[in-house]
Amino acid sequence: MLRDRHSRRVDYVRVSVTDRCNLRCIYCMPSDGAPRLPHQEILSYEEILRFVGVAARAGISKVRLTGGEPLLRKGFVYLVEEIAGRYPHLDLSLTTNGTLLAQYAADLRRAGLKRVNISVDSLDPDKYRSITRGGELKAALEGLEAALDEGLEPVKVNVVTLKHVNEEVEGFVELVCRLPVHVRFIEYMSPCGACDPQLYVPSDRVRRRLEALGPLKEAPPPAGAGPAIYFRLPGSRGTLGFISPMSSHICGECNRLRITADGKLKACLFSPGEVDVKSLLRSGASDEDILGSIRSCLKAKKRGRDQEASPRRAMYQVGG
Ligand code: 5AD
Ligand code: SF4
Repeated sequence: MLRDRHSRRVDYVRVSVTDRCNLRCIYCMPSDGAPRLPHQEILSYEEILRFVGVAARAGISKVRLTGGEPLLRKGFVYLVEEIAGRYPHLDLSLTTNGTLLAQYAADLRRAGLKRVNISVDSLDPDKYRSITRGGELKAALEGLEAALDEGLEPVKVNVVTLKHVNEEVEGFVELVCRLPVHVRFIEYMSPCGACDPQLYVPSDRVRRRLEALGPLKEAPPPAGAGPAIYFRLPGSRGTLGFISPMSSHICGECNRLRITADGKLKACLFSPGEVDVKSLLRSGASDEDILGSIRSCLKAKKRGRDQEASPRRAMYQVGG
């Protein structure tokens, strides 16, 4: 089992498979667009599989594939199939914007994917378009319905709440009344200098809006729940939850590592520290060496958030 130097058990890796995305969410991408990594800088599927194998043997039990938008990467279903086939005990999940999911949900399910998180930041098509800088809400909702139809459950919906932009909760309440999905309102974080810190809304403010609609009853978390607290409103099929990385101290429970699309291991979203796994993978390193790099990353993991400035990455480079 892996532990960091503060004895936190680390059993979860988020693997970013691409820095590309077909949307440009205002909380994730800089407004002037993002330079794309050259293909050779991105870990190949074989390299990802090797890394996942070492991590799984060392005690990682949850792997989430993320991006950018993972479904844009060619052969993504193959990657899922290989991970699920080689490590069937892993809790394998995907974070996606859902816009291509209707096309892939059945294949992903067959390949062994267990569950999905889908980013849908507003249920108003115009707001959705402006938050995603051009996205079509209909495509994301079709993806969400396809995930439910294929049994990729639980289906969680990520909503990054932005001040005066998407603070309305009524649409999401209606969604969880209609469908068995788990909506999580996520506090906006701005680890990259390009993001506008003025957009931050504390979870408490969103919670008060929900409470105005009816009594919230604490609900058991869906499978694979991270640092969220969940509630049910009378009559809802799904739940509503809050992820509060800014207003609550969730670092004490942090169980995760991240690897970027270009093979840099990060122990914390807010830390500039990175361990270059790609160079190891490409220089004939042994599994023991790769495990050593994971351990050295965990050794450097701080107890709490690193307030130092740059170099920090934008979210599309780390995968949330
Ligand atoms: N603040 C909070 N959450 C974010 N995500 C992406 N960027 C941010 C941000 N700046 C979350 C989104 C997305 C997931 C990959 O990461 O909810 O669904
Ligand atoms: Fe793409 Fe997700 Fe970033 Fe939006 S949040 S731009 S969907 S990677």
